[in-house]
Amino acid sequence: MAQHSLTSSQKHGTLQTIQPNSISTTDPHDIRHMLSSPRYSKSSYYRILRFTATDSLVTTRDKEKVSRMRRIFGSYFNATYVARMEPLILDCGIIRIMRIWDQAIKEDGGKINYCETFNLATFSIISRLVFGEEEIRVHKNSSGGQMDTVRWMSKATTYMCFRAVLQLLPPWIFHLVTMPWDHYCREVSDYVDQCIRKRQLSNKSQSDLLQALVDSLKPQDNGTPLLSRDEVLAESFLLLIGGIDPTAYTMVWTIHLLLLYPEHLQKVQTELRHKFPPEKDQLLTFSQLRNQVPYLEACIYESMRLVTVPCVQIPRTCPVGKVSLQGREFAEGTTVFANIWGSHHSPLNWDDPERFSPRRFLDDPRAKHSVFAFGHGLRLCMGKHLAMMNMVTILANLLRSYNIKSPVDYSHTGPEIKGAGDIPKLMPMSQFVSAKPKYPERDCQLIVSRYKDEKKNNNN
Ligand code: HEM
Repeated sequence: MAQHSLTSSQKHGTLQTIQPNSISTTDPHDIRHMLSSPRYSKSSYYRILRFTATDSLVTTRDKEKVSRMRRIFGSYFNATYVARMEPLILDCGIIRIMRIWDQAIKEDGGKINYCETFNLATFSIISRLVFGEEEIRVHKNSSGGQMDTVRWMSKATTYMCFRAVLQLLPPWIFHLVTMPWDHYCREVSDYVDQCIRKRQLSNKSQSDLLQALVDSLKPQDNGTPLLSRDEVLAESFLLLIGGIDPTAYTMVWTIHLLLLYPEHLQKVQTELRHKFPPEKDQLLTFSQLRNQVPYLEACIYESMRLVTVPCVQIPRTCPVGKVSLQGREFAEGTTVFANIWGSHHSPLNWDDPERFSPRRFLDDPRAKHSVFAFGHGLRLCMGKHLAMMNMVTILANLLRSYNIKSPVDYSHTGPEIKGAGDIPKLMPMSQFVSAKPKYPERDCQLIVSRYKDEKKNNNN
């Protein structure tokens, strides 16, 4: 969908009519304007992300509810609170990955699958932050079998993404198709409910996202809680769905792109190893890394530009009274899609847009303002700090401590396999809600080794 709209925008200009009452824009100025203006509201398309009886922050179009929710959750997503979550994030993220990679080095010549490791780490982090459960629990599934938390959440979130898209079908077909899997929604909400009760009973406050849910249920001075139990459940679904895939797959694409462009991989590793010599074994924290690894940050931004994981377009509805975009007037109720993918790939906005070129963010720091992977303006992603902390700490620690290379028998993907414009070809991608590798088992294998050990061997 995203690629089709890009080709079409290149043919017909940045603003185009896609249906009688819908337009789409790839112009960064238009996108910034409409996403930061309170006059435009979220369009009714967001209903497909509704998994419970009540609207969540992401689906609601009620302005009062939006500002109430963003006020309540804002203090749990700001840089200070996120910093308090860091020990948990390190433990479930980078420490867990390093354990897996070290074991693979010992037992399997360092062969790992980075799509699997990033998914596992992000699942573990979000599961710990939202469920408050560090250990992997075994769940009973509907057929009486057993599943661990990671597999169970993976199945549940995959189902929810499918369910979101299927909502575009007529209601009776939708219910027929989704009925056999609907137990996932019930199981997730029962589990969240159980975790909330456990935390309430323990009476111990912790720095995580479950605490945000528990605190919002506490009665205020007027005797009523900030949120109802249904609203809290709706929010927990949003955190689970929104928190996992985009973070995991942005890291997957960043590693893939660094493998396709080894000159940038080398520059990132030189930056990290020069500033934080790996001989000193300690783990790098986000507070040490913040503003210290501009090359790595530029690579993450460039990866989000080139392969924007939430690859759907962002829809808004034109307000009462006409609005004008690029000199054309649009009536109240017109849907305007911010075509993020098209904007990120347009030669009008970026030089040589199909090439992975992190330097564009170092040469012009303002370029970041034209990357809309986290949305923009009033409804900017609430988890942006958390996601950046996850991605920077995980990628920095890995690329500093390990050498990475593709398996020797990889002849189908690599820097020398070129596509149009003599640009290294990306691995095949599926663009169903999120941009994911189409064949992760085949294409995301990696051989890893400890930099320190290789250096020692080379010196001997
Ligand atoms: C690389 C990782 C991530 C990306 C690329 C991303 C992207 C986005 C995008 C595009 C939106 C929609 C903006 C709109 O509709 O206008 C959004 C909204 C949101 N995201 Fe994220 N997200 C990421 C990680 C996270 C994480 C880790 C969390 C929390 C655990 C989170 C929580 C939210 C919430 C609560 C909203 C709704 C904000 C609102 O509607 O006001 N996101 N995100």
